[in-house]
Amino acid sequence: KMELAKTLGVSSWKLNKLLQLAEDEGYVEKHRMGRVFSYQLTPRSLALLHRVHSTLSSVLRATPLARLRGVVVPGLGEGAFYMSILKYLEAFKEILGYEPYAGTLNLRLDNESVETRRRLRETRAGYRVEGFHLDGRDYCRVTVYKAIITGNGISISGAVLDIDKTKHGDEVLEVIAPVKLRDVLKLRDGDRVEVIVLG
Ligand code: CDP
Repeated sequence: KMELAKTLGVSSWKLNKLLQLAEDEGYVEKHRMGRVFSYQLTPRSLALLHRVHSTLSSVLRATPLARLRGVVVPGLGEGAFYMSILKYLEAFKEILGYEPYAGTLNLRLDNESVETRRRLRETRAGYRVEGFHLDGRDYCRVTVYKAIITGNGISISGAVLDIDKTKHGDEVLEVIAPVKLRDVLKLRDGDRVEVIVLG
């Protein structure tokens, strides 16, 4: 325990708090062995580690498919619409391993990036969410690309949506993430954002 506290750079008091928290959340199990306690990782924590590992390795191993640059623009509320349809949301969750923030950040791409985006579409890369029919409405196909989003020197793992029947032109890119990017990357309309699309 002393060693663990040292590695983590926390006091033993803080370490106990953390272990207690992990236990409360079902990530570790505490066993008494005579006078000492041992801690064992639960299946829940192994599943979490597995998710972190797969995210990290896909980010580190993947060769970028494309690099897109644009500026933040307000949207048409379209993103929030797609993110409110359970079937899309479930599919995004399945592909990305997290529940995305309920909206899309819209970027207006520079001319070169618009071309890059069109080429990207032709590569047939990405994860496809097939269209469907629900309550008398048609929902179009959406392609999801995992991506790293960078703005104001801060990077976060997110994704890009290519919506088949969007009202926007090819110059508007819809970005999703587990968090509200305007808050985390401290973005305002007109700020530059770089998107690295992963394979
Ligand atoms: O109205 P609009 O289509 O621009 O946006 P929305 O999809 O309803 O999302 C609501 C707000 O959250 C907008 O200002 C987005 O730019 C922002 N947003 C964000 O900062 N990070 C995300 N991951 C998704 C949306």
